[in-house]
Amino acid sequence: MTGTRTIGRFISNQTWNFTPISVSRIGSHSFNQLRMSSSATAAVSESETAAAQKNYQIVQDSGNFDETQAKRPDFDHSKPIEVTKSPNPNWEYGQGVPGASLAGKHHEIDPYASDRPMINNYRLLVSGIAPRPVGFLSTVNAQGEKNLSPFSYFQVIDHDPPMFIVGFSSRPSRVKDTYRNLRETGECVINTVSENMIEAVNATSIDAPYGVSEWDVSGLHEAPSTTVKPSRVAESVFNIEGKVIDIKEFTDHQQPGMSLAATVLIKATRFWVKEGTANEDYSHIDLEKLRPVGQLGGISYGRIGSTFEQPRKRWSDEVGKSEILAKLDAGKPVDK
Ligand SMILES: Cc1cc2nc3c(=O)[nH]c(=O)nc-3n(C[C@H](O)[C@H](O)[C@H](O)COP(=O)(O)O)c2cc1C
Repeated sequence: MTGTRTIGRFISNQTWNFTPISVSRIGSHSFNQLRMSSSATAAVSESETAAAQKNYQIVQDSGNFDETQAKRPDFDHSKPIEVTKSPNPNWEYGQGVPGASLAGKHHEIDPYASDRPMINNYRLLVSGIAPRPVGFLSTVNAQGEKNLSPFSYFQVIDHDPPMFIVGFSSRPSRVKDTYRNLRETGECVINTVSENMIEAVNATSIDAPYGVSEWDVSGLHEAPSTTVKPSRVAESVFNIEGKVIDIKEFTDHQQPGMSLAATVLIKATRFWVKEGTANEDYSHIDLEKLRPVGQLGGISYGRIGSTFEQPRKRWSDEVGKSEILAKLDAGKPVDK
């Protein structure tokens, strides 16, 4: 661990820097702080937590979902992924979006306005930033108790080094168990989610009491990891063992009765790819085998039914083919 941090006292927008080899130091320091922070929350006010619980509408009542689902067509497991032309194959430089209208105005929103409920920002963001990949995280706490939960505030953010980010939202009372475990042990496995896994994965998002393993809730199977303690999900096509590099807690935004929100940066320490799902040198996973699920707004998930390709171009190859690029090239500032 590097940087300055005072145990038990939160500094606004504090950043901790972890190195993969200092996991035991992370564990002891983080656990101390965690205990202090949760007892502080309890001391603040149980009524605040109760009030926060009342206003917390992230997990909504879905009415009679079984009835709604019964009216829908069956999921077609054998549907192949079709490859089509791109939307505008004759697109040229400078053309913008052919046929798109600019007539519609945009409505401006201040996400922090006093009359804007948090839930509106949640619904807007998850419906507007979609699809989101689901990072399915396996963690353990300092005592080795297991946890498995899905997170779609998740993304791979680099390949060199292979890095990932996960966002943990605040909720009434206690921080998410996965976040607590990452703080305590600094280790995880990120597992991919294929279509056939979604019911089991979704079930692990239940607010199980601390210490209850969602492996048992879901019936998913464990496979051993080599560089971290948490197990891999055997059903996943791709598992990434990883260690916490950095944590950013949004202490300045914490609301009464609510836990901290935080983002965690994770560096991969090992890859595992299911045999038969990738090419010979394990540099490309077959989409037909991965069958990834994306999270959409509300309680919706999406599948990939169709793809198209778009080659990436080099300026030096293209400049002679386009009047617009040639003009831009002629007018470019001199690079000193
Ligand atoms: C597909 C899916 C994606 C989710 N993404 C997130 C997320 O990005 N951040 C978050 O805080 N909670 C997310 N949740 C909710 C958590 O999975 C849920 O709060 C879970 O109970 C946390 O488990 P834990 O306390 O065992 O870590 C998501 C749930 C689902 C079903």
